[in-house]
Amino acid sequence: MYLIFIILLNIFIVGLSSVIDDTTGKFIKSLTSSIHSSASITAFFCIKTDKAVEVTKIFSQYSLIADIHTSFDNYNFDNVNLQIAHQHYYVIDFDCNDAVSIIKLANMKRMFVAPFKWLIINDQNMSITNDIEDDYYEKNKSSLFSVFKNINIYPDSEVFIGQREIINNTFKLLSLYRPSFNHDLIIENRGSWNYRNGLVLTNHDSSSRRRRDLKKTPLKSCLVMTNPDTLNHLTDYKNKLVDAVTKANYPWIIHLVNRINATVNFTVRDTWGYKDKNGSWNGMIGLLDSGEIDIGGTGTFLIPERIGVVDYVQLYTPTGSKFLFRRPPLSYVSNLFTLPFSRSVWLAIVIFLFLVCCLLFITMKWEFNLSIKNNNPMSYYKTIKPTISDNFLVILGAVSQQGFSYEATIISTRIIIFMVLLATLSLYAAYTANIVALLQSTTDSIKTLTDLMNSPLKIGIYDIVYSRYILSTIEEPVRKEFYEKMVKGNEHVWMSLTEGIQKLRQGLFAFHVEVGAGYQLIQETFEEDEKCGINEIDIFNLLNPLLVIKRQSPYRELIRVGAMWIHETGLQKRDIRRLYTEKPTCVGGTSFVSVGITECYAAISTLFYGAALTFIIFIIEIIWKKWFDKSEINVEENDMNNIEIDEENISQLDVDYLE
Ligand SMILES: *[C@@H]1O[C@H](CO)[C@@H](O)[C@H](O)[C@H]1NC(C)=O
Ligand SMILES: *[C@@H]1O[C@H](CO)[C@@H](O)[C@H](O)[C@H]1NC(C)=O
Ligand SMILES: *[C@@H]1O[C@H](CO)[C@@H](O)[C@H](O)[C@H]1NC(C)=O
Ligand SMILES: *[C@@H]1O[C@H](CO)[C@@H](O)[C@H](O)[C@H]1NC(C)=O
Ligand SMILES: *[C@@H]1O[C@H](CO)[C@@H](O)[C@H](O)[C@H]1NC(C)=O
Ligand SMILES: *[C@@H]1O[C@H](CO)[C@@H](O)[C@H](O)[C@H]1NC(C)=O
Repeated sequence: MYLIFIILLNIFIVGLSSVIDDTTGKFIKSLTSSIHSSASITAFFCIKTDKAVEVTKIFSQYSLIADIHTSFDNYNFDNVNLQIAHQHYYVIDFDCNDAVSIIKLANMKRMFVAPFKWLIINDQNMSITNDIEDDYYEKNKSSLFSVFKNINIYPDSEVFIGQREIINNTFKLLSLYRPSFNHDLIIENRGSWNYRNGLVLTNHDSSSRRRRDLKKTPLKSCLVMTNPDTLNHLTDYKNKLVDAVTKANYPWIIHLVNRINATVNFTVRDTWGYKDKNGSWNGMIGLLDSGEIDIGGTGTFLIPERIGVVDYVQLYTPTGSKFLFRRPPLSYVSNLFTLPFSRSVWLAIVIFLFLVCCLLFITMKWEFNLSIKNNNPMSYYKTIKPTISDNFLVILGAVSQQGFSYEATIISTRIIIFMVLLATLSLYAAYTANIVALLQSTTDSIKTLTDLMNSPLKIGIYDIVYSRYILSTIEEPVRKEFYEKMVKGNEHVWMSLTEGIQKLRQGLFAFHVEVGAGYQLIQETFEEDEKCGINEIDIFNLLNPLLVIKRQSPYRELIRVGAMWIHETGLQKRDIRRLYTEKPTCVGGTSFVSVGITECYAAISTLFYGAALTFIIFIIEIIWKKWFDKSEINVEENDMNNIEIDEENISQLDVDYLE
């Protein structure tokens, strides 16, 4: 038995190398497919080329796509395919002479970070010759681990060690990592492999679950505060109006760090961090970019420039800056007097009145003729021929509910007058009822930024560093136009929180503010009925602020899982509830509405334009009269005749009447 083994070994072993055979292929296959379901490997085996062909055949038998390197000298990790990196394994035979140098090269090229995966295989033939067993094993074991002692394999790395027992054809699977730069290697026993049972893992947890104990690794973080006093109120939930994001995120960072058994040290900056003119980042982002801190302690907006500079973690702080404004009364945006009826109703009314006017004209004329014929002129109207303006006055009297001096005597005019009065009465009742309701109502027609720009509302913006930055970098046309028209160069729109909320209370004012702080101050200072009808317009269109961490941080997965844990356990909601005030509920209902000039604007302007029109007509009349006087001389004869005829008629009538 031993002899066969030794012969086998001698066939396979070329110089100093591990045994690469069917067992190795089967082991690699079951490891790669069961842990990360990948199918391709890059292997570093110190075997002869003809042996490599054989090994390739064995691997393809197990559908492993293998790229086998027999000489390591000219390999550098330059053209790495990042797309498939998470499904790809690098396999090194540690028993090769150059194994250590390729490991050191990979370390230099930062190849031991996620998503790269490594499998180091080495043989243990301690059972073959019992006398050197312990010595050999200890020596080679320690050499493997002493190599990895100085390699940057942090908790995000995937470095497996496959130790083969030649004697019974089994593999022992280990994982290596270091909690941080100044910690020793931690060796995890991941399980074993043999022909009969395949891969048997001791535990199926992912590394972010297994490597949660960072052994008090010191992490660094940074808090952003616009007011230095925030440092004294990080945990007492006081003074919610200032730096609420910092105060909400601080406990989360502490939870995150405690969960992974690390420690954290905070520095303080007064800005989140924006790009300088010379291309470097300042503030917290600057610290993350240069690798001085591991976690950003204060949530920040996801803006395009920062992508690639820092990594975002899905721990949101549900806040945001929006325009708050009280809905203005309806009369500020539209003419109240036309609103009670819809356009079609107005049209119907006009047609109806026109029709009535025509009918009245006919019937009044008829009435007049009848009275002449019957020699029964009862009133003024029946002595003078009715004109269209008489009809108009009758209609106007009916519509405005003022009455008229005309008296209908024949049945047809009476029917028409009766109809007009009845119709206008119901219209009038509907109109007045409606206009009272409209006077009390507010408009919700301001919904977008364009509406806001075209409305009579004045604007103010809470003066905070990110608002200034984000507004000045907006590219989208409407919002850019808004910035250029209303913000740029108008230094007075930037104001303090209290000033802005005070103006908001007075109405006809839109204030751009972080909604949590804004609502808190509204809750504290507004009367109950003033809390009603507050609207929001979002102009930033950004996601809520998120947690940021250093790019390619070894703790990324741990922090991401921790962030999810904070969300799922309700720790996030707890701090949000305590620090952010929700929109105040409206319980007061409506209050007394006084009617001022704005409400009557349409009526007053109608009066004004009417007066102006009459004045113009008056002047035209004067001019007409002058012109008429001049030309009178020329047409005197005709006129005289006309007048004579008229006089004749009247005298004739008089005579008739007297008779
Ligand atoms: C196994 O042990 C023998 C003798 O002790 C040694 O010569 C050989 O190099 C070892 N094999 C490997 C792969 O290290
Ligand atoms: C242990 O492994 C190293 C390779 O790292 C090799 O050079 C050495 O010869 C091995 N030890 C023995 C006793 O074979
Ligand atoms: C293989 O041999 C090693 C060392 O003798 C032993 O620890 C291990 O349990 C054996 N495995 C099996 C499956 O027999
Ligand atoms: C955290 O790390 C320290 C230092 O290594 C250790 O003593 C302690 O037991 C760890 N705590 C937990 C909960 O693992
Ligand atoms: C935190 O950082 C400061 C300044 O760098 C240092 O003095 C302090 O010892 C650090 N604290 C911890 C707990 O590491
Ligand atoms: C960039 O500008 C800032 C000040 O605006 C300065 O502090 C920093 O040193 C500059 N960095 C470089 C690389 O020039």
